[in-house]
Amino acid sequence: MADIKANRMFNNNKFKLGFFAANCSGGMAVTQLAERWDNSWENNLKMAQLADEAGLEFLLPIARWIGYGGATNFHGNVLETTTWAAALLAATRYISVFSTVHTSFNHPVVVAKQLATMDQIGQGRAGLNVVCGWNRPEYEALGGDLPYDHVSRYAYGQEWFDVIQKLWQEEKPFDWEGHYFKLKETYSLPHPLRKSVPIFNAAGSSEGREFAVRNADFLFTSAISLARSEQEIAGIKKQAANVIRRHPLDILTFSYVVCCPTRSEAEEYQHYYSQQHADWAAVDNIIRLMFENAESFPKDQLQLIRDRFSAGHGGFPLVGTPDDVADGIARLHQAGFSGSTLSFVNYAQDFPYFRDEVLPRLEARGLREPFRPDAAQRPGEAA
Ligand SMILES: Cc1cc2nc3c(=O)[nH]c(=O)nc-3n(C[C@H](O)[C@H](O)[C@H](O)COP(=O)(O)O)c2cc1C
Repeated sequence: MADIKANRMFNNNKFKLGFFAANCSGGMAVTQLAERWDNSWENNLKMAQLADEAGLEFLLPIARWIGYGGATNFHGNVLETTTWAAALLAATRYISVFSTVHTSFNHPVVVAKQLATMDQIGQGRAGLNVVCGWNRPEYEALGGDLPYDHVSRYAYGQEWFDVIQKLWQEEKPFDWEGHYFKLKETYSLPHPLRKSVPIFNAAGSSEGREFAVRNADFLFTSAISLARSEQEIAGIKKQAANVIRRHPLDILTFSYVVCCPTRSEAEEYQHYYSQQHADWAAVDNIIRLMFENAESFPKDQLQLIRDRFSAGHGGFPLVGTPDDVADGIARLHQAGFSGSTLSFVNYAQDFPYFRDEVLPRLEARGLREPFRPDAAQRPGEAA
């Protein structure tokens, strides 16, 4: 059997880092700038290899089937997440690569096998981000029926996920007589190398939170105000304490980075791309859709959310000098977050400065350990 590599999602770093949305046109910046992220395969390969060699924990794509309109049709051009992840697993050595999968658009027997295949390609480095759905026009574009209310969309998601878990455990064919799935003599071989993979979920509603607490190893939530996040995280951890789990639930968030030698340079660049050159029509479309169909953001801070959307799709701002950015990450950690995704206007061009200046500062603060590629493969780190 192939040598099973450690999955870096379960390493000892107190604050995990990964790239988010590099498979999508524009990444996380809803800007009209000509130098906005071009999500070509060539650029994705470059960003993935940079992240891999720097010792980041994960790569997370967005599954998106139609864009948000506006001048740029933000996220109108998106690389499909499972094929993207499989190819990146073959092209990297250490990093965990996730596929993001909509429950309603993907049959669980197919997904079980896709993830097991990814895991074999990456020798134990695959991950699954489960999306139970929120974007109504996207569902209409696929001619499917989004369970529009949260109760049924998460009930469907639960059965979908239970089928996958069983497929990953059972050696022999079995029948499944559920509410949504009726399967005869079904099975899926190979299994993932450890019979499962790290599970991400991002939910804001009470039904979604229950789903995440029951099924996910890592739950994502927005960090609009850290005082609010602190309370929210304490509440989620309390909820999770009542569930028997294989791994303590970690709470992660998503951030955008503008890091420059001086604070004024960083702030000016942020203003330039995300205020002067924002794609406001796309920003407003995303916010309208999210407020109608999801509970991802508090609705009482619209102006702040609007600004953060144009700069980083609603992410937490890590803007300023390397010390400012390291301080921001330390504040996220203090609020209870165990990690964050990172996005940059141009991942491949902007990340090396972060790697050289911010990562050592996080190591000096004890939030991360220096990356030692040999240690990254220690079997002790395995899930
Ligand atoms: C980090 C992160 C990644 C997400 N990825 C996707 C995605 O790729 N595709 C998608 O349709 N929704 C995605 N979502 C949306 C969530 O899966 C979820 O539907 C949303 O937060 C609404 O939660 P609710 O169902 O509890 O209201 C993501 C959210 C976050 C915070």
